[in-house]
Amino acid sequence: KHDLNTDFIGKEVIHFDTIGSTNDYAKEIAGDSIDGTIVVSEEQTKGRGRRGKEWHSIKGDGIWLSIILKPDIYPHKAPFITQIAGASIVKSLRNLGIDASIKWPNDIIVNNKKVSGILTELGAEIDQINYIVLGIGMNVKTMNFPEEINSIATSIFKEGYDVKRIDILKNILEEFEKLYLDYTERNDKSSCIKICKESSAILGKKIYIINGDKKRKVKCIDINEEGNLVIINEDNDIEELISGEVSIRGE
Ligand code: BTN
Repeated sequence: KHDLNTDFIGKEVIHFDTIGSTNDYAKEIAGDSIDGTIVVSEEQTKGRGRRGKEWHSIKGDGIWLSIILKPDIYPHKAPFITQIAGASIVKSLRNLGIDASIKWPNDIIVNNKKVSGILTELGAEIDQINYIVLGIGMNVKTMNFPEEINSIATSIFKEGYDVKRIDILKNILEEFEKLYLDYTERNDKSSCIKICKESSAILGKKIYIINGDKKRKVKCIDINEEGNLVIINEDNDIEELISGEVSIRGE
């Protein structure tokens, strides 16, 4: 349909007007789908966020996307793919002139509010990945958010940028494929990490780390070559945090 410059991501597109959740659908069909198949919907009635939260996905307001991936890597190497998604989203928005940043490891921020989030789901056995469903949600045209999230959520339009959904989607798929192939074919994380560092919303800043009901105030000093966040903790020791294990709040 569109002039998408990718080798395999988005060669197969499944488009819905409405669906419960593109991630749920993608998981159902993953076994029979080719690598790189994407599922998009204009609306989701049961959109899901991380930690069991709901994800508001109003008709025509955003990009509600799932990518089915079948990489030949060990399951423990899968979490980094979420970071690749974050880097490709932020790169895409910057390509389009939008001043976006990443709140490590996978929230995309514009003007201190969240515009996009990632929900990665893994179908794997002990030493083999059957599929990864990479879910990306981006608020593009949303003007009104529910009361509970109004102070922390925003959209591309709400922040004053007039960019077409299709242009953002195309950019994301192209940027994602490059970084994904670097990692899965060449075990090269460097471009991804460079983007994560250059576009970080938290490097050099104090943040709160929330782990279960523990809350700690720490300072972020680096994202290292593994993609882990390096912090100075409350005892002035250097510590490394692995993505997926923690939740982060600004000061
Ligand atoms: C988060 O930040 O909590 C993750 C949000 C992920 C939302 C996307 S929208 C497309 C895909 N389908 C879902 O049900 N969730 C993801």
